[in-house]
Amino acid sequence: MKVAILGATGLVGRRMLALLADRPWADPDPVLLGSERSAGVRLDFRGRSIPSKAVSPEDFEGVEIALFSAGAAAARRFGPIAAAAGAWVIDNSSAFRMDPDVPLVVPEINGGLLAAAGRGSGGIIANPNCSTIQIAMAAAPLELAFGLAEVHVTTLQAVSGAGQSALDEWRRQEDGLPPCDPPLFARPMARNVLPCIGGPAADGSFEEEAKVVRELRKILGRAGDLGVTCTAVRVPVQDGHSAAVRFVLQRDADLEAATAALRGFPGLVVASDPLDFATPLEIAGGNAVHVGRLRRDPDHRRALLAWVVADNLLKGAAWNALQIADLLAGGAATGADR
Ligand SMILES: NC(=O)c1ccc[n+]([C@@H]2O[C@H](COP(=O)([O-])OP(=O)(O)OC[C@H]3O[C@@H](n4cnc5c(N)ncnc54)[C@H](OP(=O)(O)O)[C@@H]3O)[C@@H](O)[C@H]2O)c1
Repeated sequence: MKVAILGATGLVGRRMLALLADRPWADPDPVLLGSERSAGVRLDFRGRSIPSKAVSPEDFEGVEIALFSAGAAAARRFGPIAAAAGAWVIDNSSAFRMDPDVPLVVPEINGGLLAAAGRGSGGIIANPNCSTIQIAMAAAPLELAFGLAEVHVTTLQAVSGAGQSALDEWRRQEDGLPPCDPPLFARPMARNVLPCIGGPAADGSFEEEAKVVRELRKILGRAGDLGVTCTAVRVPVQDGHSAAVRFVLQRDADLEAATAALRGFPGLVVASDPLDFATPLEIAGGNAVHVGRLRRDPDHRRALLAWVVADNLLKGAAWNALQIADLLAGGAATGADR
């Protein structure tokens, strides 16, 4: 199939290209697109060097799968153009996630939505927010087995979640250089933690927190009645988001049953000991979502506490998008490596 990647030179786009190389359905000549800034930058694909070019509407002619990872403004401009040209657009930005006509897909949870979509020719599919994906992966088996009443989350998010320029700025600060002007982070990022991701909202939350709340409800099909709270925190870690999560269940579940439900879900790696856990440093580069520190809330018999870690650039972005592409291309979603 003919594939285009918009944002191919970015952190997520480069990982998409690397994952695409293993797809038997992918045409040998992907169209690599970015802004004027990166026109001419050459990227490796199956041992060949392919130049990226500045995107224009004509680039989507004949494209069947368009992987978008270039932010919401570019997605709003080029998504409808690519879809009208017949491509399946899999968009990583927030542009279309809450559009009621656009499926918001984590393949292990609601990949079935693509069966209906796949019968058409072209359209837009949204990839959820990176933190939301890993939280949804841990929430979904508990929702299926016991029903969820509430989900309360504190995230600890890697700097790469904010893109290449954030990584560059963090490294500058770690080297003792002053913050850039205008500042990219609200306060110094080096040797610090920042409980503010995205723009502020009138209710006292920041944008990332609202994304987790509304996207989790949409993915689980619980828009009206699932209680969700989130505090999103940027931490000085390169790759890999962590989340401390409290799940309040609708029905009683002992720890054994909850562990079994999580273990049986594809794409999850579940620690067998409540004292065991994964860290971003250990799991970065892998596709799985890791659940550890699973334990009962001693003061609430229907509440469980867990520590959930995944690579934000892979399951949180590129891997989830490629799993969607696999389904649209007619194959089964490939399982996560462990
Ligand atoms: N990083 C993550 O963990 C993560 C996770 C989930 C979702 N996302 C989403 O994925 C998208 C990309 O994130 P990233 O971390 O890869 O960012 P990044 O490293 O900053 O890369 C951005 C890419 O988008 C391109 N781009 C930006 N504006 C463009 C425009 N107007 N026209 C064409 N190309 C444009 C850039 O091209 P140039 O090189 O030419 O500037 C670059 O290739 C964002 O929407 C982000 O919210 C990121």
